Amino acid sequence: MNTNQLLGERSTQNPHVIAFVEDAVKLCQPDKVFWCDGSEGEKAHLLQVAVEKGVLIKLNQEKLPGCYYHRSHPNDVARVEQCTYICTPKEDEAGPTNNWADPKAMYAKMNGLLAGSMRGRTLYVVPYLMGPLGSPMTKVGIELTDSIYVVLNMRTMARMGVVAYEQLGEGTDFNRGTHCTCDLDPEKRFICHFPQDNRIISVGSGYGGNALLGKKCLALRIGSYLGRNEGWLAEHMLVLGVESPEGEKTWVAAAFPSACGKTNFAMLIPPERYKGWKVWTLGDDIAWMKPGPDGKLYAINPEAGYFGVAPGTNFKTNPNAMKSIQKDTIYTNVALLPDGDVWWEGKDGEPPKECLDWKGNKWTPDSKEKAAHPNSRFTAPMTNNPMLAPEANDPNGVPISAIIFGGRRATTLPLVFQAFNWVHGVYIGATMGSETTAAAVGAVGQVRRDPMAMLPFCGYNMGDYFRHWLRMRKLVKYPPRVFHVNWFRKDGEGKFLWPGFSENMRVLKWIIDRCHGRANANETPLAGCRDRNRSTWKG
Ligand code: OXD
Ligand code: MN
Repeated sequence: MNTNQLLGERSTQNPHVIAFVEDAVKLCQPDKVFWCDGSEGEKAHLLQVAVEKGVLIKLNQEKLPGCYYHRSHPNDVARVEQCTYICTPKEDEAGPTNNWADPKAMYAKMNGLLAGSMRGRTLYVVPYLMGPLGSPMTKVGIELTDSIYVVLNMRTMARMGVVAYEQLGEGTDFNRGTHCTCDLDPEKRFICHFPQDNRIISVGSGYGGNALLGKKCLALRIGSYLGRNEGWLAEHMLVLGVESPEGEKTWVAAAFPSACGKTNFAMLIPPERYKGWKVWTLGDDIAWMKPGPDGKLYAINPEAGYFGVAPGTNFKTNPNAMKSIQKDTIYTNVALLPDGDVWWEGKDGEPPKECLDWKGNKWTPDSKEKAAHPNSRFTAPMTNNPMLAPEANDPNGVPISAIIFGGRRATTLPLVFQAFNWVHGVYIGATMGSETTAAAVGAVGQVRRDPMAMLPFCGYNMGDYFRHWLRMRKLVKYPPRVFHVNWFRKDGEGKFLWPGFSENMRVLKWIIDRCHGRANANETPLAGCRDRNRSTWKG
């Protein structure tokens, strides 16, 4: 980039990016085009504009330096699975678990909604990387959006700015994403994926999972499609590293459905009695995993930040998350305190005597409604996490020893068990079920099948996805061991049976020991723990 460049000026010569932007300008007719470069000066400018426009409120800078507050439209607070489409030439390519639309018809519909949609507004060009700079696994995306909130969130959630042009060079291999807020009419809300074109169009929502196109749309739906074609896996998984007192690091990926504690598990702090043990966070939501030259499965976290659920987060449940959100964080749909601090149900301390709830209405502890929306969020840079794994920027990723599947199940599923082998592990992941949560619009608490926690995120036919998982066994000489956990089992009175949080270390340690052939287990009708392929197993 030219250092004399003015804010918002074009920051690339790539003709394919320029053509993509020019086409969008013709269609959407924005008043201005702002080319993001990812610089600190740009961030300061955008924050100022967002505050002036009332999109963000500056929080108490003494308590929460660099932190801002956002309220979304009350009808736009979660992912909308019923408005999410996979647009492929044949319906069978999208499969029975996705909403399908014919690409031609959907492009025509979207072009109709986008025509003139940015009049009087600014179109922001957001170049970003999903993955570390220079990694062969990293993908480039360009998101065009009319939402300054989206730009500022993308800055945190991805490696955003000219760094993406550096990786792209003169190439044309980038995801083309168009996002337009439009009038937030739920009837005109569409989150559309065109996997064959590496294309995303999202209209009518400003909510994270619908509008930050690098996250669910590219890193999971389009990513899973690319992964199937290219021989890798894009998964709804956290990745953590367990370090023993002797310095042995073991990497684990875990798939739990939305709002089932992935962020808490990824940031686990072992109880004091585990002297010398450490847990490092690589990622809290998405893993891209590819066979490495040594026959192991390697993972990167394509994201650069955390878009975590606020309610229930406190210094007991997740101290590292609390430390991560003390600065440079955007809070969405939590409660606002009179002194410019924030609050949510389940935060440390007593509820405030009075505050403004997520809709901006006066709230007191006697109010019937919750002060924070159950799906209220924080957007925080991963670099705020005191236990961020140094490997988070390693272009080669980390070798995965264990994959854990887990759901929210009040009954039936035990605390932990191990699959007999990879194929059995795929069966366990494919038949996973979980109670629904507030992360998506719809009823909460109903058990639904959620294969590999990917039901809302698999960008192609779920049957082909299972086949791809089975086929991966041929590409990975030393596949990770596969486990299933359930932290959410309840007793007859509805109380959780398991303490969870840092006590999950007990389960994690057993899993690690199983991976290293150091722990015993019993073979049961549900699942055996004995891996017959492993000669070093001493059980
Ligand atoms: C998320 C989700 O925001 O899964 O991560 O909904
Ligand atoms: Mn998620």
